[in-house]
Amino acid sequence: MGKKIGFPTCNIDIENYIISKPGVYAVKVHLQNSRKTLKGIANLGYRPTFNQKKILLEVNIFNFNRNLYNKKLSVEFIKFIRGERKFKGIRELKRQIRSDIKIAKRY
Ligand SMILES: Cc1cc2nc3c(=O)[nH]c(=O)nc-3n(C[C@H](O)[C@H](O)[C@H](O)COP(=O)(O)O)c2cc1C
Repeated sequence: MGKKIGFPTCNIDIENYIISKPGVYAVKVHLQNSRKTLKGIANLGYRPTFNQKKILLEVNIFNFNRNLYNKKLSVEFIKFIRGERKFKGIRELKRQIRSDIKIAKRY
């Protein structure tokens, strides 16, 4: 779905973690065995637009197209951008995400 809506994300299982307030954040991502810090945007939430129930951390890393399946990464929360919302459809959600990314890139 993430690839279909045009914003591929690493979906991170956060069961048994203490979590921050759900919503959209500007983040920095640290990959295991790499010194580099990558910038991105994350949604910590339930994806109400798609009627999902389980909380998930989804991270989209800017200008990055490597596959990170089964990789360990840590996500540093830099700035809360907005709370999660239920959108009427994918078009509305995509438009909102484009604007979130503009904000997140400033951090
Ligand atoms: C920056 C960003 C913001 C998002 N904001 C919302 C939101 O407000 N409401 C929502 O239902 N889903 C939101 N999503 C989650 C998308 O619904 C999700 O990425 C999409 O369902 C694809 O999920 P999948 O890759 O697990 O299939 C957001 C995702 C990203 C990357």
